[in-house]
Amino acid sequence: MCEDRLVTSESLVSHYSLGSTDAEHRRLIQLASHEEDRVIDACRRANVGPNAVAIDLGCGPLGALAALANVVGSEGTVVGVDASGAALARARTLVASRFPQIRLIEADAGNVTARELGIEVADLAYSRLMLLHQPDPAATLANVARLLRSRGVFIAHEASDLPMHAPGSEPFVPAMTRVWELVIAAARARGARTDFARRGRAYLEDAGLRVDGTRAYAVHYPPNVGFEIPRVALQSLRPTLAQYALASEDEIAHLDRELEEAQRRTDVQWVSSPLMIEWIARRD
Ligand SMILES: C[S@@+](CC[C@H](N)C(=O)[O-])C[C@H]1O[C@@H](n2cnc3c(N)ncnc32)[C@H](O)[C@@H]1O
Repeated sequence: MCEDRLVTSESLVSHYSLGSTDAEHRRLIQLASHEEDRVIDACRRANVGPNAVAIDLGCGPLGALAALANVVGSEGTVVGVDASGAALARARTLVASRFPQIRLIEADAGNVTARELGIEVADLAYSRLMLLHQPDPAATLANVARLLRSRGVFIAHEASDLPMHAPGSEPFVPAMTRVWELVIAAARARGARTDFARRGRAYLEDAGLRVDGTRAYAVHYPPNVGFEIPRVALQSLRPTLAQYALASEDEIAHLDRELEEAQRRTDVQWVSSPLMIEWIARRD
């Protein structure tokens, strides 16, 4: 595995609100490791298999890299793309020795070229929780279409930005909804549109991608993980929340206490992700 560009602690894009701290990377790794079977299953349904060339756009510190490496096998290629050199450095330590078919490229998913990725065309482009953060998802998807071969597949696992689709728990913990509102508010304050998951068909068709299938799901987490994810997200968002006056320090402390208390409860039956929408589309 090789990395073609210098690792930097800054992100190439200014619109991303969750930052690149160690704690944030641990959060994303935890989240990604709950999702490997889903990625493999989506690839199976989309007929992507051994020897394919796959790209994971906005792969973060793990993303779908390991799952995609399993799908394409040792003769396939996986290229992970992220705007954060620090996230890619973490990805390298996690997957380098296990999967020599993975390459990592520091670039903006909205304009990276096939040449920069070291491929001719991709059989599969994958994104999870990346389009949610783009200022112009249509432009990003136009680039996805340029990277795919004819009949190549795009799979997106993206979150709904509606408060009614926020992460939930039983018993209900209001901080779960509020932290999700802040994730979306921070993304929007940084210029992201956040609406890809629920407006996917229009975005995909405008980019020349034909929708093959869609489904909605929520990921269930054990309470220690499920309440930790929004706690870390809250800390990751702190600079953006302060910059745009989206939440006071008092509110942040209150939300953190509420989530910490929930984490300690023994009667919690259900903790979930926001509503996630899977889109599978194919280039004409
Ligand atoms: C919420 S994380 C999700 C990471 C990974 N897909 C996963 O599911 O674990 C979003 C990632 O997308 C990256 N990102 C956001 N906008 C990007 C862009 N335009 N180009 C490349 N990476 C981008 C961020 O640096 C971050 O690592």
